[in-house]
Amino acid sequence: MSDGGHERTFVMIKPDAFGRGLVGEVISRLEERGLKLVGIKVETMPRERAEEHYGEHEDKPFYDDLVDFITSGPVVPMVWEGQDATRQVRQMIGETDPLEAQPGTIRGDFALDLGRNVVHAADHEDEGANEREIGIHFDDDELIDYDQHDAEWLY
Ligand code: TYD
Ligand code: MG
Repeated sequence: MSDGGHERTFVMIKPDAFGRGLVGEVISRLEERGLKLVGIKVETMPRERAEEHYGEHEDKPFYDDLVDFITSGPVVPMVWEGQDATRQVRQMIGETDPLEAQPGTIRGDFALDLGRNVVHAADHEDEGANEREIGIHFDDDELIDYDQHDAEWLY
């Protein structure tokens, strides 16, 4: 396994997916790919934290709608670990605009609308994104360390 084996990436199921009952589907896809879940919670995000999370988009015309939407219902912030986790997840979720997202990707299979695109994932082209986003949504002691394949009862 390369050094990327323990790379951690921030992923969040958005309110549209929560409301449609797609939480399990999204988690299943990431599990089946072989990624390891090391942090998860369910919450309705406080507006202040949503503004911090989407701070990079502050000057964009869609910013207010984006913050309204992400605080409009429950979300599931998560941290997943694995080899090249950030790029793997970005590839699995597909392009931002569902019209551009390939079938087989999460957005390509479950979304139609650019603002309602099921899932957020940290951007692999933004080097500090994971550390920043994990820090916004999780305390250190909310992330667990374990060896997924070192269980006596696993055959
Ligand atoms: P962005 O970080 O560009 O996309 P991604 O979620 O793939 O990292 O944008 C954040 C979210 O903002 C995006 O998921 C949906 C929303 N958005 C719009 O509503 N309109 C837009 O034109 C863009 C680019 C994004
Ligand atoms: Mg982004």
